[in-house]
Amino acid sequence: MYLIYLFMKADMLIENASQLLTVKSSKPKVKGEMEDLEIINDGAIAVRNNRIFRVDKKIKTDAKKKIDASNKVVMPGFVDCHTHLVFSGSRENELKMKIEGKAYLEILEKGGGIYSTVNKTRKANVKELVALGLSRLDEMLLNGTTTVEAKSGYGLNPEDEIKCLKVIEELNKQHVVDVVPTFLGAHAIPSEFKNNPDKYVDLIIKNMLPKTRNLAEFCDVFCEKNVFTIEQARKILDEGKKFGLIPKMHADEIYRTGGAELASETGCVSADHLLRASDKGIKKMAEKGVIGVLLPGTSFTTMEKYADARKYINYGLPVALASDFNPNCWVNNMGFIIALACYNMKMTPAEAISASTINAAFAINRGKEVGSLEVGKKADILILDVPNYESIPYRLGMNIVDTVIKNGRVVVENGKLCKTVVKED
Ligand code: NIG
Ligand code: FE
Repeated sequence: MYLIYLFMKADMLIENASQLLTVKSSKPKVKGEMEDLEIINDGAIAVRNNRIFRVDKKIKTDAKKKIDASNKVVMPGFVDCHTHLVFSGSRENELKMKIEGKAYLEILEKGGGIYSTVNKTRKANVKELVALGLSRLDEMLLNGTTTVEAKSGYGLNPEDEIKCLKVIEELNKQHVVDVVPTFLGAHAIPSEFKNNPDKYVDLIIKNMLPKTRNLAEFCDVFCEKNVFTIEQARKILDEGKKFGLIPKMHADEIYRTGGAELASETGCVSADHLLRASDKGIKKMAEKGVIGVLLPGTSFTTMEKYADARKYINYGLPVALASDFNPNCWVNNMGFIIALACYNMKMTPAEAISASTINAAFAINRGKEVGSLEVGKKADILILDVPNYESIPYRLGMNIVDTVIKNGRVVVENGKLCKTVVKED
């Protein structure tokens, strides 16, 4: 049996990596585990039938394709576990307002922010939104993201929310990047319901949640002062569970509302942002294993403070990182997010890498499938043009991704997209 295994031909062999980061773990990493990337120096990895076949120091096997990774880092593809991928238009006009001191919620209350994106997204059809989404996924892939979570949330009525979920479904079908769908009908109170927000909550529960079947895996709520209250969020998340949706939250971002506590009470898989979460709330999350998804790109573009990652990790919270790609935070590069996490949140490079791969995968229930280089997992592999992992946040603002292998197929070579990045059957 062993001999058969030894002589089984691999489809692909990547060898001589100066560092191969396996980031191996069967559960979300906490505390000191985040610092341990399970590095193999002079490492090799073999791929067979789109899966990881072997990971070792030297692999003696015949392979159809061999890639020399000398002086390069080999690591799992990034998992971007929080994005608002589907929208039309852009909001660069808000930058000057932010510089002049206008707060995020002030811009929103005046009809800008999410509302201006909702106006444009409602007018766009599926074909237009799919085209926008595909080009955004291309850019993400070039930057090393191989799995991405995508939220609806710029429709804010049954028809347009479902339209956005269908766009996500189509993107997942067409693009080689795996796209994981989240329903975020509770992203803002639409202006039509300004004077009766509970009526909008009813609309979500009665008219939207039942239509998400087969279109969404998670249900998210923007729980925030003047947006959705704790009571409304609890109601939506609990109702969502009846339709099989796993709860998630935008929690304690701009004001402390008790979002972290609610996330632990409702069994959320993750609570995201957490800039102003209470110590008690973070400890409750840690006890329940709720993952804290931190989004330093949003702090950067909103000119806000950063979440206290150092403290949260010390409390035993499994921390993940994501881009939060959205019109307020046009960042599709996880390398840049890792740099922000190191320079502004005092995470170490190793912690930030664990947070962007294995912990991010667990934050969207993909921890058994992607996020680390382990035998049997999907062959989603990056080859980076740097000699060590510390260089990932150190070489700021440049794309160091040389090669991306998605599902065992080379889709980025020499930093360029291969001709076809469409999904294969
Ligand atoms: O996660 N805070 C709410 N939602 C997004 C921003 C959406 C927008 O401004 O368009 C976020 O930052
Ligand atoms: Fe968000």
